[in-house]
Parts: sequence; structure tokens; C-alpha cells
Amino acid sequence: MICVTGGTGFIGSNLVRALLERGERVRLLVRPGGRPAGSPGASWLLRQIAGRGSGARTELELAEAANRIEIVWGDVTDRDAVNRLAQGARVIYHLAAVARAWSRDPAEFHRVNAGGTANVLQAARAWGVSRVVHVSTELVDGDATPYQRSKREAEALVQRYVSEGGDAVIVRPTRVYGPGPLNQANSVTRLIELYRRGWFRVRLADGGARGNYVYVEDLVCGMIQAGDKGGNGGVYVLGGENATVEELCAAVAAAAGKRHGVLELPVPVAKTIAGLMELLGHLGLEPAVTRAWIRVLLADRPMSWEKAARELGYNPRPLLAGVEATVRWLEKTRGQRR
Ligand SMILES: NC(=O)c1ccc[n+]([C@@H]2O[C@H](COP(=O)([O-])OP(=O)(O)OC[C@H]3O[C@@H](n4cnc5c(N)ncnc54)[C@H](OP(=O)(O)O)[C@@H]3O)[C@@H](O)[C@H]2O)c1
Repeated sequence: MICVTGGTGFIGSNLVRALLERGERVRLLVRPGGRPAGSPGASWLLRQIAGRGSGARTELELAEAANRIEIVWGDVTDRDAVNRLAQGARVIYHLAAVARAWSRDPAEFHRVNAGGTANVLQAARAWGVSRVVHVSTELVDGDATPYQRSKREAEALVQRYVSEGGDAVIVRPTRVYGPGPLNQANSVTRLIELYRRGWFRVRLADGGARGNYVYVEDLVCGMIQAGDKGGNGGVYVLGGENATVEELCAAVAAAAGKRHGVLELPVPVAKTIAGLMELLGHLGLEPAVTRAWIRVLLADRPMSWEKAARELGYNPRPLLAGVEATVRWLEKTRGQRR
């Protein structure tokens, strides 16, 4: 049995699909919040997941996969729920996290991202789980945002778990894009969609800072490889190509066959707008970016995934190929996406 937290999210839904395609039995921890009335089961969940990604599933395939999927309803901060998840697990992929730019309650990052990880590790130890694959982020080397600090704390817990005899690997995705909900966690695909439609007209004057962009299917493949053959305690950056936002836009223009002009917004102006967004956040309007995240976006952050290539056989596609696949998916699913 493979267990997954965060399986309803952007990356998690792609991971669950890949695991089912491998023929695995999968148990998911799902928050009851989004559940419709009554007692929906695996078929409902599968439809949710199938609707979020690139794979078009037939009713038959869904019905077959439903026999191999189980749901544990609960929150990752609830120790009992996580214990029910981990019972009899061979591997736990731990993805559940607050992966947004901002929270009205800043302590939520610590509670869910670090506290949830502590619960997963405790349950893994209690049930003798063979391996935990902890999904971290390449941003753990900074502490500008509460998200980064909480993910750092979580990694430290995993490292302590390994030093105390547990078995775990840490994967650090870079900026992820591709088929999935166009939520804050998938903001790169949101940018691709806006550019494609000619609505992305202003960007931060970031001085050509580079980020690293990984296509979600490549990332999921790397996560499974880390689960299968990563060394105990290993830390693997799972990335794709290094690029500036200008280069990313050029890739979208090439894939979509249309180029649009994009103006540069001076940093002080961007910071003022972000500050106003934070104020509106307190009134219930979720800010897309904060002043702390602008500091993160201004840093030049090329990344290397060479260790994952050497030890796991990780082999992500180039940026243009991933952007082309994303644009094709956006075109195909236009009008069907929630
Ligand atoms: N997206 C990126 O670019 C990126 C880059 C590096 C690392 N990561 C890491 O990848 C992981 C997955 O992120 P994502 O991009 O897939 O984000 P996402 O789409 O926001 O998904 C987050 C997942 O965590 C679940 N979750 C949140 N709080 C929970 C709680 N209290 N209890 C149980 N489940 C909870 C969500 O459930 P609901 O469906 O109920 O909300 C959802 O399934 C995270 O650990 C994130 O830090 C993401």
C-alpha cells in the first residue's frame, strides 16, 4: 500500500495518477472540506483527480482504478487521522502543505507544514513504514517567507528522523508547472495561460533573475524514482531548465505561435502594490504576491538536478517541450477547467 498526503493538490493529483498507472494500491488522506453531501467514495475522488490533469480517463478505467484507491478523511494536523493513513503502508509520499503566498493566520504555515510532517514521521515510525518521501522545496535555503521557514523546519524533522534510524528521502522541487488546477501552487501555469491569452502585460523588473522550471510529470517521475532508489537520507533537487521570466514568455510565445509585449514594473512600485494586496488580505481577499515573495522573485536562483540524474536516472524535458505540452493541455481543456 502506498499512502499519499496532499493527493488532491496540483502535484499530488498528478502523483496519484502516476501511481495508479503503475498498478499500485493507493491510500489518500483527504480533508473533508471539499466533500459533497452524502458519503462519496473513491469514484468521486478519482473523478476529481482525473479532471485536474492531462490524462483523459474512461469510465471503465476510473472504475478499475477505484478498486485500488482508499480514502482516509482527515487533516494532516490530526495525529489520529495520520495514524489511520499510515497503517500497513509501505511508502508514504508526504505532500500536504500550505503552499500559498500568504495566510491570514501566519501560524498556519508552521502548524500544517511542520506539524503535519511531525505527525507523518511519528505514524511512519509507529507502523514501521519502509520509506517516507518528503516533498520539500528548493526554497528551503532562504527564510524570507513563513512558507520557507516552515518547510525548513519540516526538513529538519525529517533529517532527525533519519538520524534516529528512520528511512526517508527528501525531494526539493523547483517551480512546477503543467496540467492541474490553476491555483496559487500552479502559478507558473497561470502565467502561461495569461500570456497565451494576451493578458500578461506587466511583469516585475527582476533584472533577469533566473528560476528553475520543472514540468509536473517529470517531477512526479523523479519523486517515484526517489521512493524506489534514493539513498536513505538523500536530498534531491528535482528541477528542469533554468530560465528568466522573459525566456519563459518566449517559450510560451513559440508554443502558442503568438508574441505579446510585456512591460517591466519597477521594484518599488511592485512592492507598494504587494503591500496593498497584503492589507486587502486581512479583509479576506487572498493576495497573489507579498513583499516577502518579491524578495524571493528578485534572487537569481539557477538550480542543478545533477545528483538526481546520477543517482536516480532523473531526466526532465527541456522548458520548451514542457511549455508546449502545457499549452496544448490548456487549449484542449479550455472551458472544462474549474
Ligand atoms: N507548486 C510548486 O511549485 C511547488 C514547488 C516546490 C515544492 N512544492 C511542494 O509540493 C507539495 C504539494 O504542493 P502543490 O503544489 O501540489 O500544492 P497544492 O495544490 O496547494 O496542494 C496542497 C495539498 O495539500 C493538502 N493540504 C493542505 N493543508 C492540509 C491539511 N491541513 N491537511 C491535509 N491536507 C492538506 C491540500 O488539500 P485540499 O485539496 O483539501 O486543499 C492539497 O491536497 C507541497 O509540500 C509544496 O510545498 C510545490
